[in-house]
Amino acid sequence: MDTLIDPFGRAVSYLRISVTDRCNYRCTYCMSENMSFLPKNDLLSLEELDRVCTAFVQRGVNKLRITGGEPLVRKDVLHLIERLGRHISSGMLKELTLTTNGSLLAKYAHQLFAFGVRRINVSLDTLDEAKFKSVTRWGSLQDVLDGLAEAKRAGLEIKINAVALKGTNDRELNKMVSWCGDNQFDLTVIETMPMGEIDFDRNDQFLPLTLVREELERNWTLEETDFRTGGPARYVTVRETGRKIGFITPLSHNFCEDCNRVRLTCTGKLYMCLGQDDWADLKTPIRTDKTDESLYAAIDRAIGNKPKGHDFVIDRSTAAPAVERHMSVTGG
Ligand code: 5AD
Ligand code: SF4
Repeated sequence: MDTLIDPFGRAVSYLRISVTDRCNYRCTYCMSENMSFLPKNDLLSLEELDRVCTAFVQRGVNKLRITGGEPLVRKDVLHLIERLGRHISSGMLKELTLTTNGSLLAKYAHQLFAFGVRRINVSLDTLDEAKFKSVTRWGSLQDVLDGLAEAKRAGLEIKINAVALKGTNDRELNKMVSWCGDNQFDLTVIETMPMGEIDFDRNDQFLPLTLVREELERNWTLEETDFRTGGPARYVTVRETGRKIGFITPLSHNFCEDCNRVRLTCTGKLYMCLGQDDWADLKTPIRTDKTDESLYAAIDRAIGNKPKGHDFVIDRSTAAPAVERHMSVTGG
């Protein structure tokens, strides 16, 4: 088995797959209210997604994350997860996981566990019903809380992803730390990233995590850890709760050097970096070659082009997003 090594010596062991760009919510930092989505005919079928994922697993990828948009709104996505579960059973895959807004978890949590998922990330920026409505536009906090309760009952470990939003959850993050402690959830706080046109000025939402951390440190003892996942998060342990808090500051460059991941969109575009527009087409090799030979060649070529780092910046002189696609295309 060949391992995928990029030109900077980084092994690519983690593939994130966005199975749909659609979502049943419209979070203000993520989407505009009137999004145009990809025509369903452009999507890779679930069989094709399985083929690409399996090729990556054959090449040494040992962690898959299913994302979106909201992955659970894609019809029959549980079939894909069930299929991919065979790589967990065979030992080829260490982890099969999911990032979700939690709205449909009450329905699917038990099946996810049955198919080999053990941990999930749930996006939740506020515990206040009115704020939740204003952030997600279409969401219902109760659905997410019900989903979380069911996921816990199913035995899934849960990490909450909260985007730090000035004027929305800055006063509330202490409460979220304590709520996560009570529920035995880990927490990751994410700085907003300039991805895709939205209906607001990102400068008005931007809350630097340095401020978040200062505020948390007034209430909690944050102990440094060297826990790393090859991603952008830096983790601390909250002494009082025993749970981890991750901080994702995408605008700093401090994580590119040990980046272990690439991202596949639901139309078969492989993005080698979240913060760059370059992508490689995997749909054509899948559709034109029944053997996997062209697919493997395309994957190898793509990894050979993985860039060193990203070019994110949010500043007042550049109104345009750093990358044109929305986060919902590549799933963060
Ligand atoms: N900046 C930061 N985080 C974002 N997310 C979606 N769009 C953005 C953005 N522009 C978050 C979601 C989810 C995760 C996958 O990415 O809230 O938690
Ligand atoms: Fe949907 Fe997640 Fe984007 Fe919100 S952040 S609109 S839940 S994909």
